[in-house]
Amino acid sequence: MKYGFNDLSDLPKAGTSVYFAYQDDADKAVLDGPAELADKATDGQISRAINIAKFKAEPATTLEIIAPNGLAVDAIIIVGLGKLPDVCEESLMDTGANAFGVAQKISDIVNYIYEHKKIAIENILMGAELRGYKWDKYQTVKKDETGRASTINVYSANKTQDAKTWDSKQHVAAGVLYARDLINEPSNKLNPETYAERLKEFSKIGIKVEVLGEKQLTKLGFGSLLSVGQGSAYESHVVVMQYNGGAKNDAPIALVGKGVTFDTGGISLKPSPDMDAMKGDMGGSAAVVGAIRALAARKAKVNVVCVVGLVENMPSHMAMKPGDVVTSLSGQTIENLNTDAEGRLVLADILWYTQDRFNPKVMLNAATLTGAIVVALGTHYGGFFTNDESLVAPMKIAGDQVGEPIWQMPLHKFYDKKIDTPNADVKNMADRWGGAIYAAAFLQRFVNDTPWVHVDLAGTIFGAGKTPTNQGWSSGYGVRLFERFISKYES
Ligand code: BES
Ligand code: MN
Ligand code: ZN
Repeated sequence: MKYGFNDLSDLPKAGTSVYFAYQDDADKAVLDGPAELADKATDGQISRAINIAKFKAEPATTLEIIAPNGLAVDAIIIVGLGKLPDVCEESLMDTGANAFGVAQKISDIVNYIYEHKKIAIENILMGAELRGYKWDKYQTVKKDETGRASTINVYSANKTQDAKTWDSKQHVAAGVLYARDLINEPSNKLNPETYAERLKEFSKIGIKVEVLGEKQLTKLGFGSLLSVGQGSAYESHVVVMQYNGGAKNDAPIALVGKGVTFDTGGISLKPSPDMDAMKGDMGGSAAVVGAIRALAARKAKVNVVCVVGLVENMPSHMAMKPGDVVTSLSGQTIENLNTDAEGRLVLADILWYTQDRFNPKVMLNAATLTGAIVVALGTHYGGFFTNDESLVAPMKIAGDQVGEPIWQMPLHKFYDKKIDTPNADVKNMADRWGGAIYAAAFLQRFVNDTPWVHVDLAGTIFGAGKTPTNQGWSSGYGVRLFERFISKYES
């Protein structure tokens, strides 16, 4: 999208104009300053439309007036903000998104015109940018040619400030779209080799990228991670990305991601229905990759390291089998009772590697780890587990702020005990009930006393249904959550 920032004195003469309205105490729509002027310029067309449609300016609702009189634009859209005290970052994003959704069908230029200080325009634009995302890379004939707005203009009393805030925030939106692209890619295009290759381009935005292949991983002792990829024709990879925008000797915040580019289940093969969704089993890695990309691009003053484990879980004559025992990088042996519980085997090694090599201040990992978290929380809240209660509030606050909410789940020795086995130090599954907790308990065996948060985003990162800010399959959930959480550590 192209962006332009203008003064209010210079009102648009083309495209579709979005104006704002909020709700008074009697639930009546009140027009924002410039919307009132537009009402006058159209000889009261806006207020008449509001009356006829009984438009109440409820949050993120829209009212459209095509071909208005007296103004040289294609259409006017009035978008509701709800009651001013309730206006928050998330509601502004939804408002900007829904207005954009309507406007982009009418014109390729969308103008946002506002005056009220509550209308933090960067959140409106974030909503628009996320709403405008489309995945049609492999349609040789594009089926949907509407909704291709290419320019957004903002008209306000503070164009310089608006341009500056958006310049920074736009990088965060780009991180989300980057993650969505990765997740939407089918697994024959995005495999552990092509994925690693793709991440090398991050060196252009000041991220140091190291790619470890199977030879190095074998030498280093990544026995758990490698066991997952051993049935695949592709070589497993670990990619280490470092962005140092903070003080020189400041310990980094670590991001760790599950990057299973396709999860067939392995020898414990998954059923066929919906198996295609497992191209998104690298969603955790996409979320952390999107977050470090956003932080680096907006030049955040913080040190971040991001480590992703890229593997494909395939059945073959080389694949691991139920009952196999492997030695992890930590030295602990693992009995693999179900080859479909593979994500935790990948994370076990990269979590250990990350804390051992970087000694991070905080370590956050993201993974589409269990179907059980979807049963527990559905598709709106992600679930998180932590060994440090002081991280609970900041995590929940960050999620609520950006509209990627997250709920704490328990860690307790009751669950931990159940992953003991006579055949090795630990086994990779226990009961079906509470499955997300056993997965988390397993991960904790590979984390020492580093403050750590495990985010299970299996229900939220793809297939979570349409929202104002996401009309496609992959949502990119987690990018903005992590970006926001980490921004609190900026110097
Ligand atoms: N990738 C899946 C989890 C998943 C399921 C993600 C649905 C997104 C949507 C994971 O590797 C898996 O298969 N987990 C098993 C673990 C079980 C075998 C202990 C599960 O959740 O059933
Ligand atoms: Mn699996
Ligand atoms: Zn998986």
